[in-house]
Amino acid sequence: MNSTQLVIALTKGRILDEVLPLFEQANIVPAENINESRKLIFDTNLENVKLMVIRGSDVPTYVQFGSADMGVVGKDLLLEYGDEGFYEPLDLKIAECRLMTAEPVGSTPVQGRLKVATKFTNIAKKYFAEQGKQIELIKLNGALELAPSMGLADSIVDIVDTGKTLVANGLEPRELIAHISSRVIVNKASMKIKNALIREILGRLREAVEKMVESR
Ligand code: PRP
Repeated sequence: MNSTQLVIALTKGRILDEVLPLFEQANIVPAENINESRKLIFDTNLENVKLMVIRGSDVPTYVQFGSADMGVVGKDLLLEYGDEGFYEPLDLKIAECRLMTAEPVGSTPVQGRLKVATKFTNIAKKYFAEQGKQIELIKLNGALELAPSMGLADSIVDIVDTGKTLVANGLEPRELIAHISSRVIVNKASMKIKNALIREILGRLREAVEKMVESR
């Protein structure tokens, strides 16, 4: 890869809606409307910076292997899949939410092994082990909120933002596992080889985050 070219992998979906205004504030602007395009990689107003838009769970992989130099990804995915293979220099303070356990409203503690449904299996395993609780883990890929009412699980571990999804499914938040927000991650070799450019981008983003936080 050209050492003066910088590729930044962004997480599509909810994070993208918040990250694009922040990048604009940092004067990193895609050359075309990302939301109206089927393309996956975009030029920007900076001739040596490109933006990729991929699934959040693939961002750490691209960054770890250096196909992308930098990435923006939720802390939930970093906690789930590991945050060892790259640097994590900046909290963008966007897409803030909580990773929580949730159970049916008013339900009493389960006797014996708790059945926990989640897509965050590594986080759940670690969390309940730290609590000294034995659980039976049920891996799901989505619509976790349905699992308790369908008798599949006693508890779920999921992202809670407004809490509306829990309420709509007869659940209530119980234990806070972690505060989540979007983080910038950087490939370790890129940090050395493309240091000046990466510092420049990090500096711009840091300023944009400060402005955003001030205006809240
Ligand atoms: C997350 C999470 C909940 C919902 C919570 O899903 O899994 O379903 O958001 O938000 P709320 O507290 O504001 O109701 P998301 O929409 O990110 O999609 P996902 O199922 O692909 O994770």
